[in-house]
Amino acid sequence: MNPQRKNTDSPFVFIVDHCFKNNKDLTNSLPLSKNDLILFADTTHEPKTKQVDSIRDRLKSAFGDNISGVIGVEGGSVMDIAKAVALMLTNKGSSTNYQEWDLIQNPALYKVGIPTLAGTGAEVSQPYVLMGSKRKLGIYSDYTPFDQIILDPDLMNSVKQEKRFYSGMDCYIHCIESLEGSYINAFSKSHGEKALALCRDVFLECDEWHPECDETIMMASYLGGSSIATSQVGMVHALSFGLSYLLGIKHGEGNCLVNNHIE
Ligand SMILES: [Fe+2]
Repeated sequence: MNPQRKNTDSPFVFIVDHCFKNNKDLTNSLPLSKNDLILFADTTHEPKTKQVDSIRDRLKSAFGDNISGVIGVEGGSVMDIAKAVALMLTNKGSSTNYQEWDLIQNPALYKVGIPTLAGTGAEVSQPYVLMGSKRKLGIYSDYTPFDQIILDPDLMNSVKQEKRFYSGMDCYIHCIESLEGSYINAFSKSHGEKALALCRDVFLECDEWHPECDETIMMASYLGGSSIATSQVGMVHALSFGLSYLLGIKHGEGNCLVNNHIE
């Protein structure tokens, strides 16, 4: 972080899932200095363009342009919010204006992803996904990936089992959709096949979830995200986005629901 700090007054902003609000072990372990701050993001619902705009406006009014970077700590929702805020601090207007391919004009502030939940691949994949007023859609740009990620499976210790399962299944479905999709290519295939094998090790071979499963799913998430970065997700994600938009169903759960009903 420090080599990226603009000056001693210029803060890094840690965006942390609100479920960690009372987790002093995690918040005390964040290396804050001087004006650095922690913002807790509500992830009860999928991340919204309005939520991103409001965090950006709050930071702009407190620090102007003197912000060094944004660090997202938690699962896909918070990492998507962190990516989006880092980009909206350097691109004008509402984040709803950028819900498409290659509309982002300017590079983001320095952005870091620290997943405490594995499966979404948000730590490595290109897009971030936001719910707008009219649709839920990924924002794709060469400027969207993180500059730095930290993968530490011990950070998954406090996450509820159900959350780990649905998030891990998101990775499994990324692999299936990437490998069966028409955008498949050698890069995507090699990462997707390894990620799928790691998912199967956990979901089919382990009788119960143990610490090694966290490590395995964390690597599967990285490789699965890397696979879809150069191919695409498919029908399950398209329909799952609709379930999130209309019924507020969380991404991993929506994927599993759709996946149960298609071949
Ligand atoms: Fe996904």
